[in-house]
Formats: sequence, structure tokens, C-alpha cells
Amino acid sequence: MSEPFVSNDPATKADQEKEKPKKFQTLRGFQDLLPADHDLYTLIKKSVRHRGRQSGFRRITTPTMEETGVFERGLGESTDVVSKEMFTMESRSGKLMTLKPEATAGIVRAYIEHGMQTLPQPVQLYSIEPQFRYDRPQKGRYRQFHQYDFEVLGERDPSIDAQIIHMSWKILQDLGIEDRLDIQINTLGTPIVRKKYTEALKDFFYDKKQHLSADSQKRLETNPLRILDSKDEDDQILVSMAPKMKDFMDEESTKFYEAVKSYLKELKVPFYENESLVRGLDYYCDTVFEVWDRSLGSQNAVGGGGRYDGLGTVLGSPNPIPAFGCAFGVERVMGHMKDSGIETPNKDGVQVFVAQLGEEAKKKAIKIATELRDMGIHAVGGMGKSSMKAQLKMADKRNAPWAIILGEVEVREEIAILRNMKLGKQHKVEMKDLYKEILSLVGKENLDTYSLGE
Ligand code: HAM
Repeated sequence: MSEPFVSNDPATKADQEKEKPKKFQTLRGFQDLLPADHDLYTLIKKSVRHRGRQSGFRRITTPTMEETGVFERGLGESTDVVSKEMFTMESRSGKLMTLKPEATAGIVRAYIEHGMQTLPQPVQLYSIEPQFRYDRPQKGRYRQFHQYDFEVLGERDPSIDAQIIHMSWKILQDLGIEDRLDIQINTLGTPIVRKKYTEALKDFFYDKKQHLSADSQKRLETNPLRILDSKDEDDQILVSMAPKMKDFMDEESTKFYEAVKSYLKELKVPFYENESLVRGLDYYCDTVFEVWDRSLGSQNAVGGGGRYDGLGTVLGSPNPIPAFGCAFGVERVMGHMKDSGIETPNKDGVQVFVAQLGEEAKKKAIKIATELRDMGIHAVGGMGKSSMKAQLKMADKRNAPWAIILGEVEVREEIAILRNMKLGKQHKVEMKDLYKEILSLVGKENLDTYSLGE
């Protein structure tokens, strides 16, 4: 065999350096969810499914991409999400397609497309999906993030609003983070009320425009309601003098909002009323709510939602689809769980490590490992070419409490060596008794059995 060519010529060395394969990293604002994150994520998903199922929700998955119009029309062209944050691309045939920035518009599109208005109403759907917003990345704000989302479509009843807020609070309680959070609620009134109030805000701010921040000056043209939740201090002073939504509410809106609040009190959901809460998407009317980090306020809300009775018609439904829903940011919820040191039950640990030496032993080892798995035991091993010492070291590193050791002799004599990894003690077991003994050591209550019927 010829020796590999290594040049000492500096120019050639630099060329070789250049040809080194590039080391890739995640894109800015995108992140890997590593196994430790999944311990938290699994807990979140469990609570979402459990609370959702208890309340009659079924799961839906809409495509990751939709025709751009679904979001452009659905969320409103002047919203930050649509005007600045969408990942939009052109298909080969020239159609504009967008990675979903939120779940609601796609779910409403699906409700209309699949004729769900013929089902018993309301239709209750939930989803847990990645979402994409081309935002400026910072802590708690990513370009790909995940939302769990609940939507109740086809019914206008304040009890729905209250029940969903209650259920989302229950999930945060399940996850042990409710002490760090506050619920803020407000009403935007019916679409007519909202329109009248928006006009009044425009009139009020018009001759004070030069005192508003640059962002709010833009909002005055595109979406005056958003001036109300500006973080700018001077804007806030003007906002405190601006007309109040409550003076524009009609009887229907007022009654609806009062009912939502009284149901929330009945359900013992703690909340703060906040007249400046307007939400960043255009489709809301009547009840809106957000769940805030108690120490940070409106910044990095963990979730929010509200009523959106007008969205169905905006997305082409011949009949109105009254609806209420909310979404929570998984990464932000996980952040709170991490900060408050929530311990997650980790059921991923290895219970038995199977170590082997020799080809015959390896065959036996993989059979044992797979049969243990069928019994519901987490069994790893029967792989690699390492020495027995290295395999036992690996068993130690994986924190396996028990190891089965097999060599050619053991296979021939139909026995196995069972090692207590903590004590470093081991004894021989006849192969026919091995599973019974392991089962009693692991304990029936610790078996990981799952049947599709469950
Ligand atoms: P949203 O307030 O835009 O509402 O988003 C809901 C939650 O998603 C936020 O409170 C936050 O936790 C999370 N989130 C949003 N953007 C990011 C980001 N860039 N990075 C990390 N987390 C983020 C909606 O999306 C509505 N569709 C909620 C809804 C459902 N309304 C009615 N039904």
C-alpha cells in the first residue's frame, strides 16, 4: 500500500486546510432540542394531551407551509408577524408559500376546507407544532419555536372563553410554574366596537403624532390599537390620556365580558384586568388574554389568545365561524420550568446492560436484550467490539443497575453472569431462570410496557 501524500510545501498545506469539510451550526434563531430538553417537552406534551382530552379536544396537524394569503389575510397585513416576520418563498410555479408563524389561521382554513361546520359544534382542536417567525433572535425569542395551541370553533359563548383560560392555567399548574405567571385579560369589543374605538384613537393621536415613538407613528397609520401596548415611556404617558375602550363598549360586548369574568371567578382563575392589552394579531374581538412572566411583564409572554369570530369569513367561509383559542410558547414554558428547577421524571434510564465476548455470545446477547425489551425492560448492549472491561465501564456510565455478562463458556453451559453494578458483586444464573430473576430485581412496577390500545 502506498503512503498517503503529505506535503511540506506551505501553499499546498493551506489548500489542504481550505478543503477541510465545513463544520455546520444551527441557523441563527434555530435550535436543537436535546434529550434533556425533551424531558421537559415530554412533560408539557403529556399535560397538554391530558387536559385537552379531559375537555373534549382532538388533535390536528396542519401543514408546515400554507399559501401566503392564509396568514396575510388571516393575521392582518399590518401586523408585525405578517409585515416583518414571515418566512415566505416562491414555489417553482410562482406561488407564494409561507412557513406557518402560528397555528390558528391554518386550523381555520382546515375547518372550512374539510366542511367541519357540518360536525356537532363547537369543534375542539389542539395542536403541538413548530412555528416560524423571522424575528430578531434573543432569549425566549426564536425563529423556529413550538406552540401548543387550542381552538374551539363554531360557538360564541363566554363560558368557552373562561373554560379554555381555566384549562390553560391548569396546564401551567401541572407544570409547576403558575407562581411565576399572571393572567392578563381585556376585551376589544365586537368588531364594530373595535372599529369605532380605533377611529377614536386615530383622532386622538393625530395631532400628537410628533410626540409618539417612531414605531407608534407607523402604528398610527397601520394599526392604532397597537400603540396601547407600546413599551416606550412617552407613548405610555399619551396612552394614559387616550380614550378608553370601556367608553365605547356596547351592551352585547359588555355583557359578554362581564360573563367571562364571572365564570373565571367561579372557576377560581386568578386574573388581572388590563385595558391596554390588545394582542399583536388583527383577528381578535371581545375577550383577549395573555399569560405574563410576573417579573418581566408583557415581555416574553408565555402564551395568549382570545376570541376571533371574524376570522372564518376573512378566510372565505360563507358563514361566520365564532371561535376562541390560545397558544403557548413551548420554549418559554420550558424556560420557566428550568428556572424554577422543576424535576422531570426521567424514564429513559437503562435498567440492564448486556455485555458479551465472542461471536456466539453476541448472538445470544442481542436475543436476550430484545426479549428483555419485549418484557418492558430498558436493555442496552450486544454491540460494539470493546473488551469486557470497557463494556462494563459503559454499563457504569449509562447508570445501569444490572449487567448480564456472557462469554463463550456461559453460552455453552447455558448460564449467564448477573452483576450488581453498584455493589460490584456478581453470581451465576441458569439461563432458564434469568428472566424471572431480572424481573424480580427490576420490579414489575418499573416495567415500561405500552400497548396501542391504551
Ligand atoms: P402569539 O401571542 O403570537 O399568539 O403567540 C403565542 C405564544 O407563542 C407567545 O405567547 C409566545 O410564548 C410564543 N411565541 C411567539 N413568538 C415566539 C418566538 N419568536 N419565539 C418563541 N416563542 C414565541 C398566537 O400565535 C395566536 N395564534 C394564539 C391564538 C390561538 N389565538 C387564538 N387562538
